Amino acid sequence: MKRTPFVCGNWKLHHLLAETLSTLDEMLLGTKDIEGVELAVAPVATVLFAACEKVTGHALQIAAQNVFYASRGAFTGEWSVQHLKELGCSYALVGHSERRQFFGETDLLVHQKALACLEGGLVPIVCVGESLEERAQGKFQDVLHRQVQALMQAPLPRHDFIMAYEPVWAIGTGQVASPEQANEAHAFIRSCLRKHLGDKAESIRIVYGGSVNSDNAASLAEQEEIDGALVGGASLRADSFAAIAQAVARAKT
Ligand code: PGA
Repeated sequence: MKRTPFVCGNWKLHHLLAETLSTLDEMLLGTKDIEGVELAVAPVATVLFAACEKVTGHALQIAAQNVFYASRGAFTGEWSVQHLKELGCSYALVGHSERRQFFGETDLLVHQKALACLEGGLVPIVCVGESLEERAQGKFQDVLHRQVQALMQAPLPRHDFIMAYEPVWAIGTGQVASPEQANEAHAFIRSCLRKHLGDKAESIRIVYGGSVNSDNAASLAEQEEIDGALVGGASLRADSFAAIAQAVARAKT
């Protein structure tokens, strides 16, 4: 099935306001002629308002790196789907492994956040992936199965979410999964989704994340089950983000 490829930059805790705006300017210029791929970037929460204003009227969209599931209440330090939509965000990362590792996010919380996004009209980019130890023990399928199962534990109102397969051992390490390893994991994730969604699972995009750069993006995207990329370090510069977007667009046409 033909799925529109998706490339999202994840800026993590980088880029203050001035750098955010100048990098977005360069990205808008560098990606303006790239067709056939949906593009987004996820800046730090404090600059989302300015980032959304900057990309207004352009194809490049803004994602948040995190979101809370409640729409209001006594939740100091959080923000809701409605807050992000008000700014003009289109997506939110949910369950990134750094959130799971450093901020104690559980499978249940990931489900609640994804559900809130879908109910509120924001596309969640749901991150899953195994640790090095889990892969070494041959348990990567168990982990992915558990994470997808948890996501789907209650019926989701819509199915336009995006999955990101991000093996923890490949994030920020320079040790990218091989295209075959990633493709195998993506196919497995889709088979888990199929149990809940049947044929609808075919339309869900599954992007790969973990040390993607302009040299390896094409060989990953050439794989049937890899629908794009979630890019950390290599998305901080506009030229390498544009090169990755171009490589993915070419590989998928
Ligand atoms: P990386 O990060 O590309 O720097 O490995 C990917 C991610 O954490 O989304």
